[in-house]
Amino acid sequence: MTQAPEFDEAAADALIRAEIAAARAFYGEDAHGATALLPVLHALQARFGCVAPQALPLVAQSLNLSQADVRGVVSFYHDFREAPAGPHLLQFCRAEACQARGCERIAAHLERAHGLGAGETRSGITREDVYCLGNCALGPAALVGGRLLANLDEAAVDALIAGLKGSGP
Ligand code: FES
Repeated sequence: MTQAPEFDEAAADALIRAEIAAARAFYGEDAHGATALLPVLHALQARFGCVAPQALPLVAQSLNLSQADVRGVVSFYHDFREAPAGPHLLQFCRAEACQARGCERIAAHLERAHGLGAGETRSGITREDVYCLGNCALGPAALVGGRLLANLDEAAVDALIAGLKGSGP
């Protein structure tokens, strides 16, 4: 995974304007400012690795929304991050089927043994909790670097974390 660039206000502003123009081209000039909100947030995260807190006033002003509206959407959707992820992203499933197969025990182990609570980054590894990876029958499941992992237990998680730490950024 490549390192995301630092937040840059001018670049963010240009990105936001481009997304608003694209939304207007698709939905028409009358589209409400909120119509472009999700595309704008996705574009910012794709460019900077997160929706940085500094971007919120810019987004709100550009779309004629309140900062509270924008902050509410960013915090509601688990996919949006307020800080860039580490070089290794561990997406760990906490949805119902994986709960039935023991993911809560593994989540506690990740936190206790590796200091990786939900949303935390340690040693270049970011744990992001997600809700179903489509691998329900083989949970607990996780996705790391595009690789789907199944039947996770404490030993498998220990080996995974050791491997990621040893592989560098
Ligand atoms: S509930 Fe975990 S993969 Fe579906």
